[in-house]
Amino acid sequence: MAEKHFKYVIIGGGVSAGYAAREFAKQGVKPGELALISKEAVAPYERPALSKAYLFPEAPARLPGFHVCVGSGGERLLPEWYTEKGIELILNTEIVKADLASNTLTSAAGATFKFDILIIATGSTVFRLTDFGIPGADAKNIFYLREIDDADKLNEAIKAKKAGKAVIVGGGYIGLELAAVMKINNYDVTMVYPEPWCMPRLFTPEIAAFYEGYYAKKGVKIIKGTVAAGFDSNSNGEAIKLKDGRVLDADIVVVGVGAKPLTTLFKGQVEEDKGGIKTDAFFRTSVSNVYAVGDVVTFPLKMYEEIRRVEHVDHARKSAEQAVKAVKASEEGKTIDEYDYLPFFYSRSFDLSWQFYGDNVGEAVLFGDSNPETPKAKFGSYWIKDGKVVGVFLESGSAEENKAIAKVAKLQPPVTSVDQLTKEGIGFACKI
Ligand code: FDA
Ligand code: NAD
Repeated sequence: MAEKHFKYVIIGGGVSAGYAAREFAKQGVKPGELALISKEAVAPYERPALSKAYLFPEAPARLPGFHVCVGSGGERLLPEWYTEKGIELILNTEIVKADLASNTLTSAAGATFKFDILIIATGSTVFRLTDFGIPGADAKNIFYLREIDDADKLNEAIKAKKAGKAVIVGGGYIGLELAAVMKINNYDVTMVYPEPWCMPRLFTPEIAAFYEGYYAKKGVKIIKGTVAAGFDSNSNGEAIKLKDGRVLDADIVVVGVGAKPLTTLFKGQVEEDKGGIKTDAFFRTSVSNVYAVGDVVTFPLKMYEEIRRVEHVDHARKSAEQAVKAVKASEEGKTIDEYDYLPFFYSRSFDLSWQFYGDNVGEAVLFGDSNPETPKAKFGSYWIKDGKVVGVFLESGSAEENKAIAKVAKLQPPVTSVDQLTKEGIGFACKI
């Protein structure tokens, strides 16, 4: 089979791959120099849409509407854009072997691609219940959500059964967003998760209590402190056996029990740390002509003097831009500033919308009205460490308020009185 050579190859076709391609175009690439290789069938798109508007019953989001970079207010990169720029968009192509010593990638179909510089943008893949050996977990009514094909399959199942029953396994990002979207599709929804409150990676019990109360008000049932232990398929769908002995019926089961970075191709060839591919502040790996970006990378988080992995879209975009700038600068013998990232996560469900900036460590201080019965409740939390605000969460903030919390998380102002902070609430952030 033919071998192709490119100066730059991006492996992956998700968020960071798309933003990297745009940055290459900004910095200047000659036609034929850059290829983007993706196992997906479509050009890079804003993945967050898949668990939100893509699954709406009315006016759902569809491609080409949400190709990158519309999610950050940028230009929409249609397939034609890649052609115009002379960037080779190689779709439906899974790379199954990477040999970094010989700068060669091999696809499932046996094609080989040579590169001078490689950017790894393979993202994450989901944990499956079959990974944990749960009996019956390979049933056809059990859905996962990572790529557009998964969302299409889920949409088909939703359409096939009007007003059916859904069980959502997992109380993290996918769990909360999918429980909402299934409810919007008029399903009878039950969530099951092992922890005492939802989204324990970020939420305090007080924050979680608001969302659990709000979801209950919308009719979502929540079962905490147990897990799915087995599945029995029958003509009506699935019977889900829980570890605590209960059995739930469902037409559709959606599972969101976490994701793992896709590093397999590079095992033993690049240094890894904390489960991801280790890079410096320019996203260069331990192999000098290989960079890594997005979910897959463990990088220095300068503000906190720590190395971390971040599985969120804002970092996917920004790390991609930083890596490409670094590639170009190093070719010109120039240097650029180190990546100095302020963590930013967000989510939307029903008519709720929250943003979080910074670090959720230290003492959490709740402010505002977090009663789920209050119409348009606005509340948040500050995290205080060593007398300074290091993280801020805000539900239903205005654009200005969200800007203000980002500023606070970046500047880390001192706090003299926790009572005063609680009283001032969002006012504290707005006056910084
Ligand atoms: P991403 O997963 O986007 O892309 C990886 C790409 O590599 C895919 O195209 C994949 O097919 C390809 N690939 C992998 N292995 C390959 C191989 N061997 N050969 C060829 N191609 C290969 N974040 C947030 O901040 N707010 C939000 O609301 C959401 N919402 C959200 C919803 C859903 C459903 C998901 C799954 C995720 C989110 N996220 C999010 C997280 C966010 O989308 C995620 O952090 C970024 O997409 C990561 O970007 P990457 O480019 O690293 O991976
Ligand atoms: P997650 O890590 O957010 O949540 C995993 C959850 O799985 C845990 O909170 C726990 O409740 C649950 N869990 C673990 N083992 C379980 C078991 N055996 N049975 C039942 N529940 C179990 O992961 P996710 O929600 O699956 O999300 C996957 C990826 O997609 C992550 O990288 C996430 O960051 C990303 N994502 C992000 C957003 C966002 O930022 N708004 C939205 C969707 C997805």
